Amino acid sequence: MAAPLIEVKNVKKYFNVPAGKNHAVDDVSFTIEKGETLGVVGESGCGKSTLGRTIIRLQEATDGQVLLSGEDITHVTGKKLRAVREKCQIIFQDPYSSLNPRMNVKSTILEPLKHLKLSPAQRKEKAAELMDLVGIDRRLRESYPHEMDGGRRQRVGIARALALNPEFIVCDEPVSALDVSIQAQVLNLLMDLQDKMGMAYMFVTHDLSVVKHISDHIAVMYLGQLVEKCTTAELFSNTLHPYTQALLSAIPVANIHAPMKRIPMKGEITSPINPKPGCRFASRCPYATEACHQPQKLEEVSPNHFVSCCRVREIN
Ligand SMILES: Nc1ncnc2c1ncn2[C@@H]1O[C@H](COP(=O)(O)OP(=O)(O)OP(=O)(O)O)[C@@H](O)[C@H]1O
Ligand SMILES: [Mg+2]
Repeated sequence: MAAPLIEVKNVKKYFNVPAGKNHAVDDVSFTIEKGETLGVVGESGCGKSTLGRTIIRLQEATDGQVLLSGEDITHVTGKKLRAVREKCQIIFQDPYSSLNPRMNVKSTILEPLKHLKLSPAQRKEKAAELMDLVGIDRRLRESYPHEMDGGRRQRVGIARALALNPEFIVCDEPVSALDVSIQAQVLNLLMDLQDKMGMAYMFVTHDLSVVKHISDHIAVMYLGQLVEKCTTAELFSNTLHPYTQALLSAIPVANIHAPMKRIPMKGEITSPINPKPGCRFASRCPYATEACHQPQKLEEVSPNHFVSCCRVREIN
């Protein structure tokens, strides 16, 4: 069997801070197959961006391994790192701050190709091709970021990420900064592009409702660790971890007559700096017992459904 496109093995990323070590990503493992989308969901500060950036080598892992098509890329340098840079791309949350204000659309989307010797005619053709692909009018090729709305700016960010035909894209909250009406258009664009070009996504968001339609699998992250991981359908029909249940209960429902049973998350948030062993959600969990202070492990409780919670393990 072919190796998965991305394999993340026990990856840790700690930041040194004055008070100790911030365990931003703490022993995370998963795989992403070619052409597949993994949604990574969790609250602000739980380590989603750090995880994405570490996988594609924008940050060095503190420990663990990242494999790309079976090859260990965790510490590669030189030519091999350049190959990783080509195959793995990122789309950022805020297209305004991730685009150079002094570069027009054409220069921005062709920037990743700057080491290729393209004639002016080839550059024009490649830019037109990429603009068509992401649905930006060709007449905007000389426009600057401040002259465009948020949706178009994000399309420019997407075109830039596609320029080198990547195999894997980290989409880091790519629609969170956009108007709701534009969010769906950009999500649909990302799904159409995946159908056409076959790349895999790691789609990072704090909003479960956003990843519901785009992800094949979902990983729920809490303070640097995965607490639940399964297919999207399974996550919504058989939600097991108390944190995931609370996240799900916070999604607004269209039917105003449907009873809202929002599960409140009370209690103090555990600090990611020098955390104690045991479940990091325990201080906010309505079901927490003494047993939760023991180290927890992500375990398969039913086929392909992984949960890190001693109570769930007992019930199942
Ligand atoms: N360069 C850094 N130096 C020190 N600490 C950092 C650094 N980058 C991130 N952190 C810390 O790591 C933790 C995870 O941050 P990260 O940005 O990955 O979270 P996130 O889930 O992407 O949050 P958000 O939803 O707000 O984007 C946070 O506690 C953050 O303060
Ligand atoms: Mg982030």
